[in-house]
Amino acid sequence: MAKYPDTVQFNGLNRPIGIEWSARNLEVQGSIPAELDGAFFRAVPDPAHAPRDPADIALSGDGMVSRFRISNGAIDHDIRYVHTARYEAERKARHALFGKYRNPFTDLPQVQGVDRTVANTTPVWHAGRLLMTKEDGRAYEVNPHTLETVGSYDFGGTLRSQTMTAHVRVDPVTGEMFSFGYEAGGTCTDQVAYWIADKNGKLVSEQWFSQPYLSTIHDFAITEDYALFPLFPTLTDLDRLKAGGDKWIHEPDGDSWLGVMPRYGSVDQLRWFKGPKGVSAFHFVNAFQQGHTVHVDICLTSTNAFPFMHGPDDPFDPRTMKGGLTRWSVDLADPAATLQSQVIGPPGDLPRLRDGDQGRAYTDFWMPCYDPRIGPPVVGGPVGSCFNCLLHVDVTTGQVKDALVLGPGVAFNEPVHVPSATPGHAGWLLAVIDYELDSEHHRSELVVLQADRISAPPLAVIKMPLALRPQVHGWWVSGAQLAAAKVGAP
Ligand SMILES: [Fe+2]
Repeated sequence: MAKYPDTVQFNGLNRPIGIEWSARNLEVQGSIPAELDGAFFRAVPDPAHAPRDPADIALSGDGMVSRFRISNGAIDHDIRYVHTARYEAERKARHALFGKYRNPFTDLPQVQGVDRTVANTTPVWHAGRLLMTKEDGRAYEVNPHTLETVGSYDFGGTLRSQTMTAHVRVDPVTGEMFSFGYEAGGTCTDQVAYWIADKNGKLVSEQWFSQPYLSTIHDFAITEDYALFPLFPTLTDLDRLKAGGDKWIHEPDGDSWLGVMPRYGSVDQLRWFKGPKGVSAFHFVNAFQQGHTVHVDICLTSTNAFPFMHGPDDPFDPRTMKGGLTRWSVDLADPAATLQSQVIGPPGDLPRLRDGDQGRAYTDFWMPCYDPRIGPPVVGGPVGSCFNCLLHVDVTTGQVKDALVLGPGVAFNEPVHVPSATPGHAGWLLAVIDYELDSEHHRSELVVLQADRISAPPLAVIKMPLALRPQVHGWWVSGAQLAAAKVGAP
């Protein structure tokens, strides 16, 4: 049997587990608020087979869907592989058939043309459906009750794009889902598809436009009237892929861009504004309008934070990387407007906004952060080092309102926010926290925090019987939404 590589991408918390398991009535220390009823879905990459590429990365791992189901103070956990075409082909062969991360030219001949997405990035919930997404392919629909895979999802045969982002934006008032896919026409095409699904999940518009270069577009943002596409100079190249090279290389001298269009308008109305050179971001907290001006708040870094996205001429050096929550603003009433960039808050990533604040002026949000004063990072995740604290950030002042610090050897995953029906109640945060026991052993727990007092002792701690792999993103689905779930043909 092939062995997993001895690299940070497969060691520490990144050690493959590959166990599908279920546990009912997990032990709860403290108590889970009775109002908490629903499911915390998480996307967890976990490579089912040792990779053919010794330099493979955690983000190539087969997608697993993890679910914490909470009801009446009790909690169950289940985790299952998403049965993508790729997972099925390799499961049958009992070994890896696909090659390098995002490079189809390195796949074995028998799987040429087979859908190679691993559906491992975000469990998206919209219009009663659970979709496991990764930006290099279409989503896979999963039955939210059984976690069985239904199949590749194309909105009932209506979606033309070959890809779908893992970062859709759902308008909290209209219930519409705004989405996009880059490389919509296939590997290394510059086409970006932008589409809207109505509150019932029906695709009501899909338009394509060309981006200025072949960049990775991981996230985008909406306001009440606009769709915003920030682009960064981490680029792909068809000839490089054909030669067996890496999918992405960051270009430190390349331009960044912000594309803005009316969200119900035509892609012909897209205006492009040039941003700072060489910067990078993967996640945007939120966007909103203030008069004629649109703002987008970005977890911006001075270079790409993924070491494997750097070429030999620009090796990654974490000591020189800078970052901070950065607001990009454009006055759309000014025909000669330029992009204004201002650091407004601390560094960090994997931001979590209240669902109800999406696209609107907002006051605060939560995000994990790495603070070197706490101690060295736990090895894990796609960057190879984990976040070691959780921040509650006030965007009106740029100050940290509150922080959860649990000491060294602790890794934070992205939280979800659960709203309360009680007026004035801030709701709760749910997050998985991993503890390093030694370099090869970890334990994981789910914590329930008060959203407005994250540094207070957790209301509930659920210690997991098995360690968990680092998640990418998660999604909270209420009990009422689960009860109205749709599965299969529209
Ligand atoms: Fe993401």
